[in-house]
Amino acid sequence: MHVPTLIARKRDGAELTRDEIQQVISAFTRGDMPDYQMSALAMAVFFRGMTAEETAALTEAMLRSGSTLKWPAHAPMRVDKHSTGGIGDKTSLVIAPLLACDGVWVPMISGRGLGITGGTLDKLESIPGFRTQLGEDEIYRTVEKTGCALVGQTTGICPADKKLYALRDVTGTVPSIPLITASILSKKLAEGLDRLILDVKHGSGAFMRTYDDANALARSMVGTAKVLGLRASVHINAMNEPTGRAAGNALEVAEAVACLQGRGPADLEEICLNLAAAVSISSREQLRQKLHDGSAWRKFQQIVAVQGGEVSALEKMHLVHRAPVIQEIRAARSGVLARMDAYQVGLAVLELGAGRAKASDPVDFAVGCDEIAKTGTQMRAGDVLCRVHARSESAAGQAGRTVLEGVAWAE
Ligand code: URA
Repeated sequence: MHVPTLIARKRDGAELTRDEIQQVISAFTRGDMPDYQMSALAMAVFFRGMTAEETAALTEAMLRSGSTLKWPAHAPMRVDKHSTGGIGDKTSLVIAPLLACDGVWVPMISGRGLGITGGTLDKLESIPGFRTQLGEDEIYRTVEKTGCALVGQTTGICPADKKLYALRDVTGTVPSIPLITASILSKKLAEGLDRLILDVKHGSGAFMRTYDDANALARSMVGTAKVLGLRASVHINAMNEPTGRAAGNALEVAEAVACLQGRGPADLEEICLNLAAAVSISSREQLRQKLHDGSAWRKFQQIVAVQGGEVSALEKMHLVHRAPVIQEIRAARSGVLARMDAYQVGLAVLELGAGRAKASDPVDFAVGCDEIAKTGTQMRAGDVLCRVHARSESAAGQAGRTVLEGVAWAE
């Protein structure tokens, strides 16, 4: 295989063979294909797309780059949900323990922040001590103990996605239907699932800006999953304003805890119940009950403890990670809030340091926005539109301006 020729063929719109895709992914995983060549190929795929056959071959190659979880014949049903990414989307932190309350198993492999969207692993790692990098044996033991494991790709499981995900994050190659399909499904196929619910987002804070693009992504994922033997269903959800009222790693954990205690924002609880009900053996009402009677909260504490996290930190995340500057952004006028743009909030949070500009960047767990006003709210001049948690006054000022660019009022 001559990699420069293969990149040039994809650049010119050719269809790659299953064998070529397999070879590229193994070379990249082994470290025999440098990041600059994979970045160029990802950009060629971004512009030229892939056929359904190429997408399935890429997904399979990424899946086979590592091992897969194998469950005993008598094991409980395995279920999971995966979102295509959004702003303030902390639903995994709520849904995984909620589903695990039922006795089903949730071996959830997630990712880090990608583009302007936050990542489940970064959020979880803001809990002091929480370990997301578990070896295969540890994943089995964890799932047996709690019914759930909240982990990342490793050098053993989905190593190709681990490397490509980090590269796409910093090379402008995230919003590509075949790359998203292969990234998500390689992880989900590696989990050995019986049922999967996919949460495909569209809107300003999503990788797919329009409903039609989200629909195309949904079709690509369900079709590829079917070819590779996984039963997946999809919900298509709008992502024009942040989910809930917080965006930023530790701030989102705090909000997820509130939701698990039955006192989360209505939109967050609603979407968690809708997605969980799609793969659960319980009804939506029974799931709602588990959020309000303490069951899901107790399960989350158990999961955190087993994965090495400090359970006592969960109810004081805002103190554990306290940004030096907390600035209120206030409404300049009265009226009904018509837009609190997810993209602008995501950008502000990224600029504050909650995401990465290059793969090696550390993320800042403390920064972000909370008390984000919801669209449709009747507000008075001076009411708080959101609070910015920042490292400095100037960073807070800049983030506030970025958020305000995405605010609009109903006439
Ligand atoms: N989530 C993933 O795991 N991968 C993507 O490419 C996008 C969202």
